[in-house]
Amino acid sequence: MALESLQDLLMDELCDLYDAEHQILRALPEMAEAAKTRDLQQAFKEHHEQTKEHVARLDRVFKLFNEQARPKPSEGVKGIIAKGRVRTKEASEAEVRDAALISTAQRIEHYEIAAYGCARTFARVLGEQEAVSLLQQTLDEEGETDKTLTRLAEQHINPRAHAHA
Ligand SMILES: [Fe+2]
Repeated sequence: MALESLQDLLMDELCDLYDAEHQILRALPEMAEAAKTRDLQQAFKEHHEQTKEHVARLDRVFKLFNEQARPKPSEGVKGIIAKGRVRTKEASEAEVRDAALISTAQRIEHYEIAAYGCARTFARVLGEQEAVSLLQQTLDEEGETDKTLTRLAEQHINPRAHAHA
């Protein structure tokens, strides 16, 4: 699809995010399963629930622009998840694996924070206020998840991984 306008670019961004969120929906249960620490498992499970809402919000944003929701392969998130899977396998110690899972999850969050931030800013210029607030809500939740993961890493997961060695 030729990108001839800012709206085309926004749609392209949203189609990438739509696929990214679906990939994340599939990856999070696997990550929760691989995590040893209870509160990390819980963080992944909670974010899985939130991610369903992120998909629903994207559906609403597409509708606001009278566009069909359609996924476009998000190679960026695919690469992050693939790399994360390799690391999860390579980390033979559960404590180190938990630290590795956080680093994968935070890479994903930062990808989404960048993409939702741009999409929100495009929607604002296009004058679609409802889309701005829907995208902002998701952006805020991705930011909160990122902060939660940093807190878990700092509080006990990284020190435990370090002590283990
Ligand atoms: Fe999300």
